Amino acid sequence: MLFVIIKPAKRMRGSLVLPGDKSISHRAAIMAALAEGKSRLQNYSTSADCSATLSCLQQLGVRIEPTGKDVLIDGSGADGLFAPETALDCGNSGTTMRLLAGVLGGQSFTSIMTGDESLRSRPMQRVVEPLNMMGAHVSSQAGRAPLLIEGRRPLQAIEYELLLASAQVKSCILLAGLCADGRTEVIENEVTRDHTERMLRWFDVPIETGAAEREGVNARFAAVQGPARFKARDVLIPGDVSSAAYFIAASALLPGSYLEVRDVGVNPTRVRFLQQLRALGLDVTVTDSKEESNEPIGTVRVRGLDAPRPSRDPEAPYKLAGLIIPQLIDELPLLAVVGSQIEGGIEIRDARELRVKESDRIATTAMNLRAMGAEVEEFDDGLRVDGPTRLQGARIDPRGDHRIAMAFSVAGLFAKGETEIEDAGCVAISFPEFFELLESVVER
Ligand code: S3P
Repeated sequence: MLFVIIKPAKRMRGSLVLPGDKSISHRAAIMAALAEGKSRLQNYSTSADCSATLSCLQQLGVRIEPTGKDVLIDGSGADGLFAPETALDCGNSGTTMRLLAGVLGGQSFTSIMTGDESLRSRPMQRVVEPLNMMGAHVSSQAGRAPLLIEGRRPLQAIEYELLLASAQVKSCILLAGLCADGRTEVIENEVTRDHTERMLRWFDVPIETGAAEREGVNARFAAVQGPARFKARDVLIPGDVSSAAYFIAASALLPGSYLEVRDVGVNPTRVRFLQQLRALGLDVTVTDSKEESNEPIGTVRVRGLDAPRPSRDPEAPYKLAGLIIPQLIDELPLLAVVGSQIEGGIEIRDARELRVKESDRIATTAMNLRAMGAEVEEFDDGLRVDGPTRLQGARIDPRGDHRIAMAFSVAGLFAKGETEIEDAGCVAISFPEFFELLESVVER
């Protein structure tokens, strides 16, 4: 087991370009696999999660060639996947399992999907139910993986209103819709990341999106027309903004820092986190935005101020709740760490989903913040952390969760003394280069 020691930092300085976005890479690989012809995916994510997607696709008969930072995929076309000989192992990756379940539901063969212990404990009924409504036959272990997927071709097109805010469930249904007969529509009452919709459009799949008529809520719909056939396309994948978040938060909080992250994804459904830092009076700006492969990409610049001026009442905790939560879901453990450093602290609510991520992120965040000396109150749907607190170096147990390991590495930069991250190798789930890049920009 790898241990990493984080020592306190004075400031951060540097200019970074990060490996490709994990969410976009999964979608690019799946679409390229279903397309006719060869697609080159540039700057494909180096994460273990995105490697799991590639190896599952290979088991389904797709020819894939990694060439440096790029991945070359020889698409099988709409009817070209083969039944896998063994169970498809999704590792730790919820996105691999939930998105590929949509594809497999629409095949004329049976497959089994499984994963590591964490993934096998996560809720899958959310994809089982819509796929069964479409006519597939998916069975689970009381709503959890392994999943036995008896596909049906064509699937039946459905209109489905999401019961919870999940881009993975939305994407599962839209991908299944590619193998359905007719129009499959998904309605979401809370806006989630829209990478699948953008990627479908990039591959010229007919897709409609817009405001859905629902009283009192800002609902959206996305609809695809099946069966869909489409051609290969090269995709340039922007740097992962959720990986950048750790460097951005650390730089914003360490006075005298100056950091830029270039060619990073700045999709509006992913950058709520940056807006929240700005609302806290921190100096974070996005410049040079343009579109690449139908995704916004730009440069994020951060300065660590001596005295941030928040536009809010510093007595009360800064509250994060409601509709913005799905758009900063992966950054919430990090925002809790940020909260420990700001006047009034932070309160996060309406984030029950955090309990069923790679770990129970409410519990793991609270436990590790307390280990570092912060005052934390835990709620069923979130937590409150008091601030500002001078954190103490401690031994951090991320419970195998990459985002917890990285959030608490950032906490270690502000702490007194050394912070020891146990099982630090888990960062490879999303960001294998994390510690190396952190050391390259930290000044002590
Ligand atoms: C993801 C969606 C989110 C997010 C996950 C990646 C995606 O999950 O937490 O890291 O790529 O669609 P949910 O859809 O379960 O909220």
